[in-house]
Amino acid sequence: MSSKSCNTAILISGSGTNLQSFIDDVASGELELSLSIVFTNRANAYGLTRARDAGIATACIEHRDYADRQSFDRAVAQMLDKAEPDLLLLAGYMRILSPWFVNHYAGRILNIHPALLPAFPGLDTHQRVLDADVTWHGSTVHFVTDELDAGPRILQGRLTVDTDESADELATRVQAIEHQIYPQAANWFANGRLAYHDGAAWLDDKRLDEPIVLDFD
Ligand code: GAR
Repeated sequence: MSSKSCNTAILISGSGTNLQSFIDDVASGELELSLSIVFTNRANAYGLTRARDAGIATACIEHRDYADRQSFDRAVAQMLDKAEPDLLLLAGYMRILSPWFVNHYAGRILNIHPALLPAFPGLDTHQRVLDADVTWHGSTVHFVTDELDAGPRILQGRLTVDTDESADELATRVQAIEHQIYPQAANWFANGRLAYHDGAAWLDDKRLDEPIVLDFD
């Protein structure tokens, strides 16, 4: 795939600082994606304003209008498919995806999770990290599979936890890392260097049995 043709849909539920980093990096020419559509399941997501300000098409479907997860996901896919996305970037999209949706976009969905997976899957990671008194924390970009927060890991950004910091301070430091590692991984995908097959992530035709880890201290 030529990077210019990498039609990308970004799915958000909230503030959209990761979305903003994609917007900024595309504008500066560092990131070669076509940002086709920003989708949200929350009409009040601030990320929608960021998308509109950048002139990107937006769409919202509220999940409470659907009887179950799969019927909601089918409606989302029907809308997204009009943009013919090559890549879906989950950027703070706080919905568990149905197996149907994951299969529909198999190998084309990336997620960023605010922890060093497989440690701390799920929610409220920063407070849980502080409570557990661990040394390392950070964020993980991974391919999305049926299993929540468990798809093949690609890239991690790591920092050492300061025992005096609050969960909010830690979140801010982790997010600054996310804004670097997520565009990096997306660029690899857009340039055809990163792929998902045989149940694994592959970078430059090498299987990533472990993610690439970057230290940010
Ligand atoms: C990010 O920190 C991302 O890692 C996290 O939500 C935040 C969204 O921030 N994602 C998850 O927790 C997914 N399980 P943003 O809206 O400012 O990009």
